Amino acid sequence: MIDTTKASVARVYDCFLGGKNNYEVDRQVYRAVVDAAPQMERIARINRAWLIRAVRFLAGTAGIDQYIDCGAGLPTTENTHEAAQRINPMAHVVYVDNDPVVAAHGRALLEENQNTHLVMGDLTEPDEIFGHPTVTKLIEFDRPLGLIQCATFHHVPDSKQPAEVMRRYVDMLPSGSYVALTHFTDPRDDADGTELARFVEGVFSGSSMGSGYFRTHDQIMGLLAGLDVVEPGLVRVRDWWPDGPHLNPPDSVDKILLGAVARKP
Ligand SMILES: C[S@@+](CC[C@H](N)C(=O)[O-])C[C@H]1O[C@@H](n2cnc3c(N)ncnc32)[C@H](O)[C@@H]1O
Repeated sequence: MIDTTKASVARVYDCFLGGKNNYEVDRQVYRAVVDAAPQMERIARINRAWLIRAVRFLAGTAGIDQYIDCGAGLPTTENTHEAAQRINPMAHVVYVDNDPVVAAHGRALLEENQNTHLVMGDLTEPDEIFGHPTVTKLIEFDRPLGLIQCATFHHVPDSKQPAEVMRRYVDMLPSGSYVALTHFTDPRDDADGTELARFVEGVFSGSSMGSGYFRTHDQIMGLLAGLDVVEPGLVRVRDWWPDGPHLNPPDSVDKILLGAVARKP
């Protein structure tokens, strides 16, 4: 059931990506952010570019050929299965989301071939996700897989114990698996990064969307407990194996999103 009276994470994110699957209530949240902080226009694109770089690494160098992409979001110009299957056409990808708009608009585009499926589920319930019949059909749990948690856990409140949720995922992952994660951060720099983080958190949490938590570097590292974080560590997404040299210094939006890829020993 689609509720058009409340903003949703997937649809607000779609506004940031310039998509069309959103309603006025979502655009209000988007405008409340970018009207005051125009640099935020780039936030979803820098996150998405990171996701594609991370999947290229996983599918190529790391040789991962099966993925569970939690919080898939609405389909956009390049999606996980396209990046993975370009390198390995046999790669399996299961997307997970809990937003009915993703189910309605995403299925046709995200389920492009027999190796790619979308399931509805709550990513804070790892046992249900890993036990879903579509997941167990496509993913072999006796060999390494890629678990993608890109821009998801910053929508999980502390009351849901995000570190415990991740710990359960990590426990269930086969050895040699990877987790790819991005998360909003408050750099606590008493400067433009913190100012932007506090502002955006206020808008997101105060809106009908209701979530967007800017955690510290240490708190986000806590989500990766039990894993070996690969170089260069948990860093600003623009500094995680960029495609080339930076032409400009980081601005405040670059300071509020961290990303890491980590391997289960
Ligand atoms: C900000 S979007 C990120 C989309 C994509 N992962 C990316 O990085 O481009 C977050 C997505 O997570 C989904 N999501 C949020 N909380 C969720 C939950 N508890 N269970 C499943 N999906 C959730 C939202 O519906 C949305 O599609």
